[in-house]
Amino acid sequence: MSRFIKAAVALLCAAASCTLLAAPPYANVGRTATPQEVAAWDIDVRPDFKGLPKGSGSVVKGMEVWEGKCASCHGTFGESNEVFTPIVGGTTKEDVKSGRVASLRDNKQPQRTTMMKVATVSTLWDYINRAMPWTAPKSLTTEEVYAVTAYILNMAEVVPDDFVLSDRNIAEVQARMPNRNGMTQAHGMWDAKGKADVRSTACMSNCGDVKLRSELPAAARNVHGDLSAQNRSVGAVRGVDTTQPASQLALVGQAQAGSGGAAVASVAPASPAVSPAASPAASKAPAGGQALAKQNACMACHGVGNKIVGPALRDIAAKYKGDTAAAQRLAAKVKAGSAGAWGPVPMPAQAHLKDEDVAVMVGWILDGAK
Ligand code: HEC
Ligand code: HEC
Repeated sequence: MSRFIKAAVALLCAAASCTLLAAPPYANVGRTATPQEVAAWDIDVRPDFKGLPKGSGSVVKGMEVWEGKCASCHGTFGESNEVFTPIVGGTTKEDVKSGRVASLRDNKQPQRTTMMKVATVSTLWDYINRAMPWTAPKSLTTEEVYAVTAYILNMAEVVPDDFVLSDRNIAEVQARMPNRNGMTQAHGMWDAKGKADVRSTACMSNCGDVKLRSELPAAARNVHGDLSAQNRSVGAVRGVDTTQPASQLALVGQAQAGSGGAAVASVAPASPAVSPAASPAASKAPAGGQALAKQNACMACHGVGNKIVGPALRDIAAKYKGDTAAAQRLAAKVKAGSAGAWGPVPMPAQAHLKDEDVAVMVGWILDGAK
């Protein structure tokens, strides 16, 4: 033990019971964060506005920010285009008065928007400040965050067109949030009655009597394309093959668990030709462009025959059929990002990819993604 640790342990022992104290396993690793580093992480803005930086931003300026940096994903009016979260919609002037969003209860709104759900304006400010735009988080200035928050509030008819949101008037805006009285803690995690909300005991083998409580409806199963083709490249989380019915997969998973297979291995293809005990790692990986496209998460946004976030790969092949310069042009676009060729949703830049890998993937796509 270093002299410092000994001294620290002695000090702690003076203050508390020592039975649980042992030398920390990584005693000589790392260093104390500097105040600047702590400040860079300590950016949360709380409902009482503790943490909110001083500043302001107008609705007018916010419209500029929105159209330049947000609308491509969330839609011109915050209604979203297809895949990204809708921010505005479903609230009324009545809701601004009552603080309860009526459309949350009458279910007339097809999809819940941020402005329907969020109870605190601080959450909106904080989230935009830390996480948006999705492709460049923390790139907005304080003024831009105030401004774009004001613009969202304006689109939701919470503040007028000439409004300037600031640290001085944000509390008044809070008093107009459509769902400010809509939050309840009488459910789920909040309502654990002093006990942890989890009662299960870990089962590592022969967990035969596991009962499914809920399941994705069959009609929704494959709407985002085959999840097993959209795996993360790290970790043990595997998507299920959503092109197969759920029940078969569940059986395969149970058979594997029962035969001592890995607990996460409930994803072996459900085709009867594959023995239930075969582990997914053992199944032969497809070669070339397809393997690379899976590995590099292209399949999270592109289906072979179906549009997901981006166009179907076969549609890309069809569009550039006979265009001999397409391979090079598209390879450059995969690395630099693309917008406008297929619609309003952009493809983010993927500059980290190796040129030769991109060439193989694009070649495979143009060849019909077989
Ligand atoms: C490249 C696409 C993209 C861009 C550009 C973008 N967003 Fe988002 N935004 C998303 C995605 C995806 C989510 C959901 C993220 C998640 O749930 O982890 C999201 C979530 C949000 C949410 C929270 C929604 C909720 O109810 O949870 C807000 C608010 C938001 N964005 C505002 C903005 C603002 C303001 C800008 C512009 C400064 C912006 N976004 C730019 C993709 C984008
Ligand atoms: C976050 C979602 C996303 C990911 C990940 C993604 N794409 Fe895309 N891709 C898109 C979107 C959206 C478009 C349409 C862009 C447009 O309209 O210009 C697109 C378009 C394309 C195009 C056609 C471009 C054109 O000008 O016609 C090719 C080729 C392509 N992607 C290949 C890939 C490859 C290869 C990968 C993996 C390395 C990949 N994409 C990953 C969303 C994505």
